[in-house]
Amino acid sequence: MNKIPECLIHPVSIKLLRQGHPWITADNFSNRFPRQSEFVIATDDRKRPMALLMHDPYHKNVKARVWSTKFPFDREAQHFTASIQGRLDLAFEKRIQQNELKERENYYLVFGEADQLPGLFILRLKDRVLIQLYTQFWNRYKSIIQTTLQEVFPEIKDENVWFQLRGETKELQKLPQNSVDQNRRDEFHIAEFGIQYLIRLGSSYDHGLYTDMSSIRHTLAKLIRPGCAVLNLYSYTGAFSLWAMKLGATQVTSVDLSPKYIEWLQQNLALNPELNHTQHEAIVSSVDEALSNLKKEEKKFDVIICDPPSSSSDGEKRTSASKAYKELLQKMDPLLNPKGKLVVFLNTHQVSQEKFDRLMKDYLAELKLNYKMSTRLHLGQDCPTLKGFPEGSYLKGLVLEKQ
Ligand SMILES: C[S@@+](CC[C@H](N)C(=O)[O-])C[C@H]1O[C@@H](n2cnc3c(N)ncnc32)[C@H](O)[C@@H]1O
Repeated sequence: MNKIPECLIHPVSIKLLRQGHPWITADNFSNRFPRQSEFVIATDDRKRPMALLMHDPYHKNVKARVWSTKFPFDREAQHFTASIQGRLDLAFEKRIQQNELKERENYYLVFGEADQLPGLFILRLKDRVLIQLYTQFWNRYKSIIQTTLQEVFPEIKDENVWFQLRGETKELQKLPQNSVDQNRRDEFHIAEFGIQYLIRLGSSYDHGLYTDMSSIRHTLAKLIRPGCAVLNLYSYTGAFSLWAMKLGATQVTSVDLSPKYIEWLQQNLALNPELNHTQHEAIVSSVDEALSNLKKEEKKFDVIICDPPSSSSDGEKRTSASKAYKELLQKMDPLLNPKGKLVVFLNTHQVSQEKFDRLMKDYLAELKLNYKMSTRLHLGQDCPTLKGFPEGSYLKGLVLEKQ
């Protein structure tokens, strides 16, 4: 192996790395890492080696990810393949031991940085596996990843292993690479907490069910009482709606702007004949318009779930979900019964849980709305998070109880 170049990193990166942050983002230092080097050793301003980095000159933002902070780094690089296998085995074993996951056919076998496999996410979807690469660095190691996986889970057949390159730039946002192969069944059903969902690997960037929300769906069981009315805003393919029906809600309304996702939701409903479909209403419209109409119709709910995209555009300006929440709270409140619960989510690492709590508290005070902030919702079970790495804790939610 060639000698690994030692490169000084930005003073801010030095500080962050010492705090456990595993990324080196684009700056005047990281942009000058030798392009052809697969690994780089990060050094501080006194030329002391700090970490072995996986280098990705093609990534727009994250130029390198920490593989190891254990000396000697050249040895760490020589043993890289064996370490991948070791780390994968550890991550798989953790999931095998987790009893909660037995109620789900969808869960993460690997959750990136928090499993010490930076930029690598592996989802189990029943008898299939979707391997998501957030850095092109992993391209060279696909077969090692697949072999290690199939050694631990021999029941997973070659044709059921899917790779997807994901990222922030448009050109990286692709369907799974093998989704165009003939003989691959890209549509199938999976069960979560006794509900069937339609999964489509080859139709859009996301496959129809957010696995990272699964442990939160489980938590919401405490909130949804038999006989209650639930409004699911930004419903996507209806995971919260079907779960609410399964828990005994007798009136569920789902709202999404996309006819495609509402159609998908209807297909999900059709897969679950034991649910009473007459108790479900699907509305294809913007949340804004739906909230106004539901108010005019004097509809009332006991639980309102609100999970907006992190930012949205009305064609002219882009508004972040955190800013939009003031108006959303104002419009959701009249639809909520006394003692009702608002379940609000924010899907961005740019706002911490503490900041989100404060923001909601301030908005409620400005609007003179009397709510008690109760449960915090966050990634859990198969989706661990890492101290010092806010990017990995992107999902946060709060339950607000109307007083
Ligand atoms: C983050 S996903 C919601 C995921 C969903 N809560 C779940 O758990 O499966 C966001 C959804 O919001 C929808 N959407 C985006 N802007 C919207 C708007 N202004 N009004 C209604 N739906 C919208 C998108 O079509 C998408 O399905």
